[in-house]
Amino acid sequence: MAANTVAPAGAGWLRSFGAWIDARFPMTQLWNEHLAQYYAPKNFNTWYYFGSLALLVLVLQIVTGIWLAMSYKPSATEAFASVEYIMRDVEWGWLLRYLHSTGSSAFFIVVYLHMFRALLYGSHRQPRELLWIIGVLIYVALMAEAFFGYLLPWGNMSYWGAQVIVSLFGTFPLIGDALVEWIRGDYFISDITLNRFFALHVVALPIVLLFLVVVHILALHEVGSNNPDGIEIKKTRGPDGHPLDGIPFHPYYTVKDIFGVGVFLVLFAAVVFFAPELGGLFLEHANFEPANPLLTPEHIAPVWYFTPFYAMLRAVPAFAGTQVWGVLVMFAAIVLLFFLPWLDRAPVRSIRYRGPIYKVALGLFALAFIVLGYCGLKPAVQPFKALSVIGTVYYFAFFLLMPWYTRIDSHQPEPGRVRC
Ligand code: HEM
Repeated sequence: MAANTVAPAGAGWLRSFGAWIDARFPMTQLWNEHLAQYYAPKNFNTWYYFGSLALLVLVLQIVTGIWLAMSYKPSATEAFASVEYIMRDVEWGWLLRYLHSTGSSAFFIVVYLHMFRALLYGSHRQPRELLWIIGVLIYVALMAEAFFGYLLPWGNMSYWGAQVIVSLFGTFPLIGDALVEWIRGDYFISDITLNRFFALHVVALPIVLLFLVVVHILALHEVGSNNPDGIEIKKTRGPDGHPLDGIPFHPYYTVKDIFGVGVFLVLFAAVVFFAPELGGLFLEHANFEPANPLLTPEHIAPVWYFTPFYAMLRAVPAFAGTQVWGVLVMFAAIVLLFFLPWLDRAPVRSIRYRGPIYKVALGLFALAFIVLGYCGLKPAVQPFKALSVIGTVYYFAFFLLMPWYTRIDSHQPEPGRVRC
């Protein structure tokens, strides 16, 4: 009997505490608007796991990053040794470091799949153009975050990778040299460069990323999620005003996402515990040697997630002794992504109802991106040079010819309601 009276009293206390907060902060309102009363299409499939997984990896990177920063020393004389100290002497330091280094690759895998889902189901199309643009901004910020972080272990590949990428800015006419000096803060990659990259990696860019992700979710919840059929569920509402093809995000998708998190963590843990270097793909072998300005690694290549763009850079030959065209092509490849919502003119969104031209074009695009990534990891010799040129031409053709081929492509009529 006593137990019976205690439980409701406890729940009552909790309810009153909730009401106390609600009177001062819209806690329940936010919970309802973004979870319990947020109606998402009922036909989400595997492709819809990657947004929540990106959120998970973001949190993982921030938490492990904070702990790494407790023992890391951002100085050219101590950085490399401090990473070794983390790996050997700090309790669980090896795990923190491998979680963080594997997390950076996992972040890009998850984000690339997340972006590809948009191309599959037309999630970038009206009214989600801004959501897509914010996504591309996240992608750019993520690349900057990864680039700055890569210098921090002060390994030989960190050093030479930064040297190559920063010197690309030197190809711009007139301002190039001054720009490179401004980025480095010195005449070469030095302790000063390491210090500023550290500040940008641990403070500035995480704030930018967090801000953009919050805006991304707010923009998503304003327009509502797309779905594998690419049709608007808001058009068919029941008597209660809720979309007939929608289900509350909580508990249905929170539970579904927890399953996705479980599968992801199994795969992630397998890499962290059994193959954290992944054959030099996630942690490059040259980076286990300290930075040495007098010893160039045999073959300088960025980490795999940058290599498609690196291959594009190398695909363009130097004209009149300058690499500037290659650099412009590389940047243009990223800038093009912002315009995707307006390049795609198909009358339907989802690949399910698009014609054969888009299906083939998208399949070849995925292949070209992977081939470019592979070529970027390899030395600039044949056949990788030729493949890089073909991949680059195809990458640009995919986007620039899109207004034409998406219009002439055939399509099937979209269904009125989502299919399960
Ligand atoms: C830190 C990185 C990111 C996080 C945490 C994130 C998070 C999310 C979440 C939670 C969703 C809803 C669930 C889902 O649809 O999977 C979503 C949807 C979406 N995201 Fe992201 N995202 C990130 C990066 C990006 C990038 C780089 C792009 C594109 C360039 C992008 C474009 C989109 C689009 C278009 C949707 C709507 C999809 C639909 O409704 O079909 N996101 N994002």
